[in-house]
Amino acid sequence: KGCKLVGCGSAIPNFRITNDDLAKVVETSDEWISVRTGIRERLVLTGQESLTALAAEAAKKALQMAEVDPDDVDLVLLCTSTPEDLFGSAPQIPKALGCKRYPLAFDITAACSGFILGLHSAACYIRGGGFKNVLVIGADALSRYVDWTDRSTCILFGDAAGAVLVQACDSEEDGLFGFDLHSDGDGQRHLNASMRENKVDQALGSNGSVLGFPPKQVSYSCIQMNGNEVFRFAVRCVPQAIESALKMAGLTGSSIDWLLLHQANQRILDAVATRLEVPSERVISNLAKYGNTSAASIPLALDEYVRSGKVQSGHTIAAAGFGAGLTWGSVVVRW
Ligand code: ACO
Repeated sequence: KGCKLVGCGSAIPNFRITNDDLAKVVETSDEWISVRTGIRERLVLTGQESLTALAAEAAKKALQMAEVDPDDVDLVLLCTSTPEDLFGSAPQIPKALGCKRYPLAFDITAACSGFILGLHSAACYIRGGGFKNVLVIGADALSRYVDWTDRSTCILFGDAAGAVLVQACDSEEDGLFGFDLHSDGDGQRHLNASMRENKVDQALGSNGSVLGFPPKQVSYSCIQMNGNEVFRFAVRCVPQAIESALKMAGLTGSSIDWLLLHQANQRILDAVATRLEVPSERVISNLAKYGNTSAASIPLALDEYVRSGKVQSGHTIAAAGFGAGLTWGSVVVRW
């Protein structure tokens, strides 16, 4: 059994923060940020705006492009590390889309690699049988976990959602033909937003002591990152993963139409492209406008390039995600 990508969509918040805006709150400059990262501005969710609604909007556009009815969706994979419900936000997507058949929906948490893992999972579900139309959504609002006084991280992140519809097809039409996926828990110390203990409420505290255990209430810390280590990890591991996915697909860097990397830093994109001998005009990049949107960055960039006519039907794309966990991975797909 084969599977192919048949539609994409994206959605972005309205509130824009430029590098000059950031220079008013931390000691930095537009020049420093754009030279070191390629980022010029980012969009963030404000107030009561919902990431789940943004994800549903992206999914709706992907279904419209594919001309597939929401009732024909069998599975929704919401790739996010910033769900609006600790138990998972994915079931809210078919609800928002008005799917009447109650499709299976669950979250996938793998930071900036989430969407790549989602694509691979969609292929496995379809090939395993019983699933025909799988929505894979990458959506994150890392702005909610940024320390806006930390100049080394607050300059990097933005919020967004992107989606694709993966559909079952005959094996001759198969459009997902190589992958390589990894994790390294040891590297978690270089990039995390770990659980932390909050001061326990007095009333709960006394109940806890009656029950004979020390009660805990927890939340998550802001993003902690050792940028140099993450940079080195990305430049070392991502080309290897792409090479091995390409090998499985019987391709090389010079034979693909597009290199689509998680949009973290233009210098990472350039270094990986150089290692793989992919010319710069075949490297997808839109991080200047959005910053690092975590699991959303790959489908957001894909959607932009498809709708502008650059990525065309039949094009081969080597995509790779990398980030917290640490996690990283590559899939080779045909659009
Ligand atoms: N403005 C001005 N100066 C700054 C800023 C800033 N915004 N941030 C750091 N600096 C300073 C540092 O304090 C340091 O000063 P010092 O030399 O006096 O100590 C100097 O600039 C150099 O800092 P470095 O951290 O070495 O700068 P580097 O060139 O490595 O760039 C960056 C930092 C942009 C973070 C880079 O390391 C990077 O992009 N790393 C990868 C990050 C990444 O991709 N993370 C996302 C993974 S996604 C996920 O899973 C969430």
